[in-house]
Amino acid sequence: MPPAAGSTLFAPAAGGLRGSLEVPADKSISHRAAMIAAVGDSPVEISNYLEAADTFSTLDAIRSCGVVVERSQAGIYRIKGSGLRSLTAPGKVIDVGNSGTSLRLLPGILAGQPGQSFTLDGDASIRRRPMDRVVAPLRMMGVDIEARDGRFAPLVVRGGAVHAVTYEMPVASAQVKSALLLAGLFADGPTTVREPSVCRDHTEIMLAAAGARIEKEGQLTTIHPVESLRMADVAVPGDLSSAAFFLVAASIIPGSDVLLTGVGVNPTRTGIVDIMEEMGADITRENERRQGGEPVADLRVRTAPALRGVSAGGGISGRAIDELPLVALAAAFAEGDTVVSGAAELRVKESDRIAGLVENLRRIGVDIEPREDGFTVHGSGGVPGGGEKFKSLGDHRMAMLGAVAGAASRRGVTVQGFECVSVSYPGFRESLLGLMEGKA
Ligand code: S3P
Repeated sequence: MPPAAGSTLFAPAAGGLRGSLEVPADKSISHRAAMIAAVGDSPVEISNYLEAADTFSTLDAIRSCGVVVERSQAGIYRIKGSGLRSLTAPGKVIDVGNSGTSLRLLPGILAGQPGQSFTLDGDASIRRRPMDRVVAPLRMMGVDIEARDGRFAPLVVRGGAVHAVTYEMPVASAQVKSALLLAGLFADGPTTVREPSVCRDHTEIMLAAAGARIEKEGQLTTIHPVESLRMADVAVPGDLSSAAFFLVAASIIPGSDVLLTGVGVNPTRTGIVDIMEEMGADITRENERRQGGEPVADLRVRTAPALRGVSAGGGISGRAIDELPLVALAAAFAEGDTVVSGAAELRVKESDRIAGLVENLRRIGVDIEPREDGFTVHGSGGVPGGGEKFKSLGDHRMAMLGAVAGAASRRGVTVQGFECVSVSYPGFRESLLGLMEGKA
């Protein structure tokens, strides 16, 4: 049967994946660079800014609040901040599209814009995602913020005074932590956030580099209010969350040898490398260096000689939250069972990633069971695939997972709604095909 409209076939990568690939810029760091530059004192040049729908949403948002953003060439943006409290209300809704990071972080900055009122909204998926996790603590900080039914977008933020608090996050979320640290810039004293387990710390790294006083003590992060921020020009590293698709693909597809260059390897993000290595993957770090205050390396990945099932729970899930669906695919190729737990957050991402994963992987022949907080995969030596099988559910990471499953399958996999990859990796198919031809 020919694939339905909007469907994309991913054929098996018969000869393996070979060659070198520079993955797109880090999405999390790109968002933060744009937002922090927007309230800085002087113009900042961001190079290797991620040119994808989510990070364009953040640029559009700051532009609509009066910040001048100029693009000189692909990925190079000059952002002309004019001070911490210089943003102005756009007089229209700020549409963040599918971007949860824009929707959850921006209120932290907007809270400090006196006398200005901002409305933030997005697409149907984002309107289903919980926003009370930022609304409640920001209210504790005295921020005038409202959400639909107290929980959902649209959000209305009216800038004004911000009070310092100590806040214990009920779930480990870098987006919540970041929103509160950004609001803490404007507060009347030091703001402390406690994270239940490690989550990405790009906001802290970038704010500290821009002159904010930040203290870290175990799970506590404290930020002191500032009068101004001065950010240096920054080059964004490659996104480990994007590299992860090739890290897993090359591990499970026979005959692969791939070099992923310039990938961010911040330890708060490298859970996927740890999990894959524990499963038996062959990953080496080369050319380790620092870029934009972040650790970066080239990752060499060769086909794993053998993979074994693992248990991944607790803190490691948080350090690999966006990559856990890939662990399920790797687990299908492994010997024995793999159990991922402590990852209930997967249910409130761009889609319910536990339900979507189970539905999709079962359809292509994987033996997987859902858990409330994760999943169990019974390794079966691979995925057959074939036909009209994988639904993206409008979720970029689900679409890319389907593509990797197809490349690793015996009969290919068709992904419905593949175009949503534009959110984080518009050229994903070309990257995969390039490695299949050995010339990416
Ligand atoms: C992100 C944090 C994570 C992650 C998301 C990006 C960020 O979300 O899933 O893709 O940039 O801070 P949570 O903070 O909800 O865990």
